[in-house]
Amino acid sequence: MGKKIVGIDFGTNAVKIYKKGAGIAMNEKNVIAIKGKKKVVATGNDAYVMLGKAPEQIEVTKPIRNGVIADIGKMQLLLDSLLEQLYNGKVKSSDYLIAVPMDITEVEKRAFFDLIQRSNAKSKNVFIVEKPLASALGMDIDIESTRGALCVDIGADTTEVAIISMEGIVLSKLIPIGGYKMDQLITSSVRRKHNLVIGDKTAENVKKELGFACNPENVSMRIFGRDLVSGLPSEVNVSSELVSDAIHEPLGSIVSAIRLILERTPPEISADIVNGGVYITGGSAHIKHLAEFIKDETRLDVNIVEDSEMSVVNGLGKIAENRKLLRLTSAVKR
Ligand SMILES: Nc1ncnc2c1ncn2[C@@H]1O[C@H](COP(=O)(O)OP(=O)(O)OP(=O)(O)O)[C@@H](O)[C@H]1O
Ligand SMILES: [Mg+2]
Repeated sequence: MGKKIVGIDFGTNAVKIYKKGAGIAMNEKNVIAIKGKKKVVATGNDAYVMLGKAPEQIEVTKPIRNGVIADIGKMQLLLDSLLEQLYNGKVKSSDYLIAVPMDITEVEKRAFFDLIQRSNAKSKNVFIVEKPLASALGMDIDIESTRGALCVDIGADTTEVAIISMEGIVLSKLIPIGGYKMDQLITSSVRRKHNLVIGDKTAENVKKELGFACNPENVSMRIFGRDLVSGLPSEVNVSSELVSDAIHEPLGSIVSAIRLILERTPPEISADIVNGGVYITGGSAHIKHLAEFIKDETRLDVNIVEDSEMSVVNGLGKIAENRKLLRLTSAVKR
């Protein structure tokens, strides 16, 4: 491994980049705005503000879906642009460390490697690490230990549940449920109850403010949208009860996935998990009263880290700074 190493977490919601020696260098929305076939208008956070607002000629898209690359051409343009920003215009040759979900096909994993190879990255080596291992490292879990740990990463498009023991993944499950699904359900509920059509960003804001996993507090907020009947701009007062009801179903599916993994967990590891509790990470771990909800449903203690959406990239950072940890990765051959 060379001196320079760049770690990337290609999340559905955001691309997070760690640069060896510099720390977390980027956290940009995984969005690109393109005019015509290839003209990049904006990338990352700048493109995100255009979502839902751009004229017809400008296409604003998210190239990752369900944790895998849905549009490699656009993801490549986006990566090229982010790397140029990372290196202030002149991309230097470097090793790359990429976190990928555990439960995807070899072809889907390979696509991340191809992405780096085809971009302007000037990659020397590409190392792949499974996301649950990276996020466990990022949460300071002692992954070398023979003590098993249960980690749940609730992101934007996916939730990945994994049991980790002795530097490996004993069991894992990736389900296509996360924060986006919650936003969609909030949008449907607001439409049904208030006859109001709202945008994705409004739904997300409402979720952050009013979404309780259980025991909702009695709060509300005014939101803006388009009245379904009159077609005119309109505002309504939306309650935490409506929002919390809307996010209940996906949270239930997440608990079911945790239960399914627990049912299959070897008994010795089950005992470790009872002692250590479950570790919840990913941006959607910020949902209010989530710890209480999961504790009620699983009877396990719940650990939630503060900057939960950064766990994977923090783990990549640890590997980048300590080459011994490269043993956790696999190098992809050209
Ligand atoms: N305070 C908050 N309350 C509720 N949800 C939040 C909060 N902050 C962020 N989120 C949600 O977290 C999600 C983003 O999380 P994260 O950055 O972990 O996703 P990602 O890694 O890009 O996606 P994935 O892992 O699914 O590919 C979004 O759906 C966002 O709405
Ligand atoms: Mg993620």
